[in-house]
Amino acid sequence: MPTTTTSRALVGVVLMAHVFLCTAYVGGDGFSVEFIHRDSVMSPYRDPSLSAHARVLEATLRAAALSRSYARADAPSADCAVSELTSRPFEYLMAVNVGTPPTRMLAIADTGSDLVWLNCSNGAGDPGLAAARHAHAHAPAPAPAPVSAPPPGVQFNSANSTMFGLVSCGTAACRALPDASCADSKCRYLYSYGDGSQTSGLLSTETFTFANDQGTRSGDRTMRVANVNFGCSTTMIGSFIGDGLVGLGGGDLSLVNQLGADTSLGRRFSYCLVPYSINASSVLNFGPRAAVTEPGAATTPLIPSEVKAYYTVDLRSVKIGNKTLAAPQQSTVIVDSGTTLTYLAKELVDPLVKELTRRVKLPRVPSPEELLPLCFDVSGAREGQVAAMIPDVTLELGGGAAVTLKTENTFLEVQEGTLCLAVVVPSGQFPPMSIIGNIAQQNMHVGYDLDKGTVTFAAADCAAAPSPSPSPSGSLYI
Ligand SMILES: *[C@@H]1O[C@H](CO)[C@@H](O)[C@H](O)[C@H]1NC(C)=O
Ligand SMILES: *[C@@H]1O[C@H](CO)[C@@H](O)[C@H](O)[C@H]1NC(C)=O
Ligand SMILES: *[C@@H]1O[C@H](CO)[C@@H](O)[C@H](O)[C@H]1NC(C)=O
Ligand SMILES: *[C@@H]1O[C@H](CO)[C@@H](O)[C@H](O)[C@H]1NC(C)=O
Repeated sequence: MPTTTTSRALVGVVLMAHVFLCTAYVGGDGFSVEFIHRDSVMSPYRDPSLSAHARVLEATLRAAALSRSYARADAPSADCAVSELTSRPFEYLMAVNVGTPPTRMLAIADTGSDLVWLNCSNGAGDPGLAAARHAHAHAPAPAPAPVSAPPPGVQFNSANSTMFGLVSCGTAACRALPDASCADSKCRYLYSYGDGSQTSGLLSTETFTFANDQGTRSGDRTMRVANVNFGCSTTMIGSFIGDGLVGLGGGDLSLVNQLGADTSLGRRFSYCLVPYSINASSVLNFGPRAAVTEPGAATTPLIPSEVKAYYTVDLRSVKIGNKTLAAPQQSTVIVDSGTTLTYLAKELVDPLVKELTRRVKLPRVPSPEELLPLCFDVSGAREGQVAAMIPDVTLELGGGAAVTLKTENTFLEVQEGTLCLAVVVPSGQFPPMSIIGNIAQQNMHVGYDLDKGTVTFAAADCAAAPSPSPSPSGSLYI
């Protein structure tokens, strides 16, 4: 069974000489990669037939589809591997270059989980694979509604790489996995997401190269990190997009924790999300450049979460103009880039809808597909006029941090002329907690610092920030 953690004493079993290369990186202020929205022009998953509005509606529908699949996945699966992770529709991707020589792979970048895993063609052989296939054959795997057929992906072939290594069972990395087992003294993992998606394979190490496209700023082009722990996935169930997933959560195995432990970058990262409507790349920063120093930056402490992966903060109240809506006792909210909408308790959303209805002098219309709680007809309003008609909403977080949400953070134009509130009450059990989603974080520089235990928000013009140019495919600057 791949569900029990076994740490066998290893008597001199060295699977691979783990030469701890001194991490070679240039430039003192860290590095940046493109943070690619799955619907952006940089993404191979973009459906070019959709209009900008239809894309927003699609993203909202993905979230709704997930909420239905979540309800189904709530029953424990046959192998009892119930994930603690909530399912979210994974909206962003990043490029990683794995191995020596590097293979460029496009992976989901997920701030709500920890494991880094990649689609492997299994050059190293996987003794546990047959057993896993057998186990999975009996597991009901409720998967989210299928997306349009993905383009052909890239697989990592470990046989081609000189630095590839397997991780032994007793190691700290293996013990950090929620669900690990031993296969020929090598560490096997089974990693599950809230919607029933799963991936499994052997925990491995490899050199990762991040193309630093902001080379003009610091003179460096790439960042190489040796011995990154990642899952060489040979079994994947569910509808993943991309060639793998990079966990950026708060737990030990996440990329941000691994980079911080092995380099002088610190355990921190930041992003600046360009609004859906703008054709420009968002950026994901690591190291010192992830510090959020813009004027008006609001910092809130991270609070311990049951699920270590989640970036959880305290939510005290929501303000609209001079009206303060107090959050229910001990309200916590997770800050996440993979979730589109913002989910808040009914005790907050109901009075928020009431207050906005009272203040916004626009005709109300029903929501497309009954997805969202409050929609206005803006077809008669001129561009620029609408934003002035909608009051700012301020989230008051722990530590006195006030995060101002402008119209573009609270409302979405889901179809031509229909503007809807992007703040909703969780439906049924999905998601089982409050979440500040990516619409609410557009045009903000948001920094996560695990060393300081903080999340910092500052208003920013993300399209104006130096945006990394795409690296020509297949070419790297080492
Ligand atoms: C892994 O890559 C192979 C080959 O490109 C592909 O057939 C398979 O669907 C991929 N798996 C996932 C989960 O993306
Ligand atoms: C990797 O190895 C496989 C077979 O071992 C080979 O077919 C393939 O061309 C190699 N790829 C690279 C990039 O070297
Ligand atoms: C987006 O911008 C890129 C490069 O700036 C351009 O090539 C592309 O045509 C634009 N796409 C759209 C849909 O405007
Ligand atoms: C809140 O603002 C409204 C209009 O801006 C005003 O009429 C009302 O008196 C204010 N209430 C308080 C308590 O300041």
